[in-house]
Amino acid sequence: MAPQVVPPSSDFDWSKLAFDLYPTAGHVKYVWKPETGWGEQQFVESPYLNVHISAVGIQYGASCFEGLKAFRQEDGQVKLFRPDENSARLNHSAAALSMPEVPKDIFLEACHTVVARNLQFVPPHAPYGGAGSCYVRPTLIATGAELGLVPGNEFTFFVYVTPLGSLYGSAGGKAPAVDAVVVHEFDRAAPMGTGTIKAGGNYAPVLKYQAQAKKQGYAITLHLDSKTRSQIDEFSTSNFIAIKKRASDDEKPTLVYPKSESILKSVTAKSLMDIARSLGWNVDHRPIPFQEVIDGGLEEVMACGTAAAITPIRSITYLKEDGEQAKVSIGDGQNAGPRTLELLQNLTGIQAGNKEGPAGWLWPA
Ligand code: COI
Repeated sequence: MAPQVVPPSSDFDWSKLAFDLYPTAGHVKYVWKPETGWGEQQFVESPYLNVHISAVGIQYGASCFEGLKAFRQEDGQVKLFRPDENSARLNHSAAALSMPEVPKDIFLEACHTVVARNLQFVPPHAPYGGAGSCYVRPTLIATGAELGLVPGNEFTFFVYVTPLGSLYGSAGGKAPAVDAVVVHEFDRAAPMGTGTIKAGGNYAPVLKYQAQAKKQGYAITLHLDSKTRSQIDEFSTSNFIAIKKRASDDEKPTLVYPKSESILKSVTAKSLMDIARSLGWNVDHRPIPFQEVIDGGLEEVMACGTAAAITPIRSITYLKEDGEQAKVSIGDGQNAGPRTLELLQNLTGIQAGNKEGPAGWLWPA
């Protein structure tokens, strides 16, 4: 039997949807205890969590999260994009932070239930995804109360949703290009450190650099590798992808994605590599020296992630060795390049169900 179709709420002004939190019907929650493992699913209307002040997650930062999206299809049904990938990544983070695994079936059931109970908050269908989706935020946190530095004996897994507009303004298969700046004053993730996990603690230290950059007119901040400060790692909010400059127009496009031990492995980046291969492009997964940006070796650059979707980058500003600032223009220095738009239209077309994608990418909500 086809799932029930619940239309988007008519009380909501969908044309004003922002990248923000909106009230919903509630979230789902599971609690892990040593005697029982993961308990029953609870649906909680309140958006608050009642946690001990000495919870390990609060005091020592044992907390990680995921971000995925659900999209309304043309027939009104709602589909989740690759939740199985987020399940695997959450467990990678959980293992690194000494938290119990969340079994895949619990993760999928949680995402399914929370979206199914909030269908009225999933924005209207738009070919290429429009600017609207339903953002799903699975979170795992150590809620056991401890004073010592130990993992604790209680963990909470909860998943909430919010209707979501675009983070950097992409909509309807188009995306405005933004200016990026390299963060030179701070190392995001040490080699062999926490860079590959989606821990809350990886994000907080970046806030002040991001705020500073915004004041100076840069929408997004870029991190180089911490060991040599010469290779591209990722943006503070998303992964880095580029299209290599071609020697001639006949050469097929090459998508370049940084190989690094310190970046979060983006589900969007993985999907874009698959899309690029399906378009007959080359995919080059290798360390990317920042010098390649300086030398003009990259024709197009984009930030990609669940929240960022695909955000074209039109310039990257950095500090030269002499401490002077320099700005490298990407492409025409103004607009998204053609390959970026091609990837965006393919990805968002697949997510909205208007383009056929690989089997297993869309899951019923
Ligand atoms: C996501 O893309 O889901 C994220 O978690 C990015 C967040 C920093 C806004």
